[in-house]
Amino acid sequence: MPEEFGHYIDGAYRDTDSTPRFESHNPATGAVIGSFPQGDTQTVDAAVSAARAAFEDWRARSHIQRAEYLWDVFHELRTRTDEFGTIVSEESGKPLNEGVADVIEAAHMVEWAAGDARHPHGDVVPSELPARDAYMRRKPRGVTGCITPWNFPIAIPYWHMAVALVEGNTVVFKPAEQTPRCAQVIAELFDAADLPPGVFNMVTGDGETGAAIVEHDAVDTVLFTGSAAVGHAILEQLGGDTTTRVACEMGGKNSLIITAAADLDIAVPAAVMSAFKTTGQRCVSAERLFVHTDVVDAFTTRFTEIADALQIGDPLDQASFMGPLIDAAAVEKVRGYNDLAREEGVEVLVDRTEPSVAAAGHWVGPFVYRADPEAPLRCTHEEVFGPHVAILPYEGDIEQAVAYQNDTDYGLAGAIISDDFREVNYYRDHADVGLAYANLPCIGAEVQLPFGGVRRSGNGYPSAREIIEAVTDRVAWTINNSTEIALAQGLSADIQTE
Ligand code: UN1
Repeated sequence: MPEEFGHYIDGAYRDTDSTPRFESHNPATGAVIGSFPQGDTQTVDAAVSAARAAFEDWRARSHIQRAEYLWDVFHELRTRTDEFGTIVSEESGKPLNEGVADVIEAAHMVEWAAGDARHPHGDVVPSELPARDAYMRRKPRGVTGCITPWNFPIAIPYWHMAVALVEGNTVVFKPAEQTPRCAQVIAELFDAADLPPGVFNMVTGDGETGAAIVEHDAVDTVLFTGSAAVGHAILEQLGGDTTTRVACEMGGKNSLIITAAADLDIAVPAAVMSAFKTTGQRCVSAERLFVHTDVVDAFTTRFTEIADALQIGDPLDQASFMGPLIDAAAVEKVRGYNDLAREEGVEVLVDRTEPSVAAAGHWVGPFVYRADPEAPLRCTHEEVFGPHVAILPYEGDIEQAVAYQNDTDYGLAGAIISDDFREVNYYRDHADVGLAYANLPCIGAEVQLPFGGVRRSGNGYPSAREIIEAVTDRVAWTINNSTEIALAQGLSADIQTE
């Protein structure tokens, strides 16, 4: 019997033995990790009601008091990093060093949010008139629904929740159905920190559970990180609803530009990391490499040699560079795009679509091909979310390369590899992306920077400082220090009567 877990509502575990349930699996072996209740609309309603009831007391505390709970969480994330990293690795299939990195990123985010509680908050604004004080203050919006993906199962929930909680919101968290065991770590840490009941609630389940949160009238803010398809469905669902605020961070069709002035000792490892870390399953992973024709042959030889030899296997084995894809649906999707690329006539350079790995996991290795940057191919314009990468040789200048890279519906992350500062500066100012790097991979963003894209990649900035905007309302607060009423536009309290 797999271990049975429950929802966490109003300070207690619920439905630990109720039905229906679902299981999560180790994507590298198929082994069952645990059994979890499928939350329905009643469960979501109970969680939202608990969050709503806890809101008044929680918002009445100071930022610093609320942050105290998060310091306990931070301490656990820092001292039990390897233990939690192993749980991430087993359930998400990310290699152990990436599982650990997930927990480190979570700790960074919690540290940022808890530390920010002691920083100035709001603005002192000049007034038109002398005997007045004017401020911009923030108020928590209320109940925040947090819907998060499997690929950063510890870090991304804390991106959403650490700031939302310090700002005085209460939360209802719906983790990805592929990684509910990782979510239990989050519930365990809030429970151990003695967070007041109802301030944090977790409901496990699938997309229907998430939809019930989005639809719930008493949810004031929805923070979503995940696929563009789901994010746009949420935006459409809430399109006419001006009372619910929604911040979505979604996918990308991210690129590296490797110019004629690139140092290939940087370009090659940066491209390998961008394309194949997390088996290409980051929203910031690169699937397009625009490489100048002067260096494309040298680059391609070195890049394909590594792609051919990358160690694929057990995520818990330190020797593995790449783990499996998350599930059977992901395998089908990525293999489908590899087939599509062939049908679209690309030149395949590395094909490890069906790598030989002994365990019964969801294995798909690197697929590398050469294609024409001018060709309107689906495989070079649609997000695959796997180790599927195109080398697109370009001639001409940086303007041309950036125009190719901008020819996509997405705009999340990108990098330029070049030793020519003019090229780098042009890229910085013209690449249509929210996260831009020079001489680095396009993965590995730091939490204190904005995180989010343009176009189909996002409508909000769900990271640290930017989440403050999503989970608070600004209030213009003006105080009269005199005994007269005077308005900034010249009106006074001369009230004519008969
Ligand atoms: C994601 O790609 O889904 O920038 C999130 C990074 C990580 C977060 C990625 N800090 O690679």
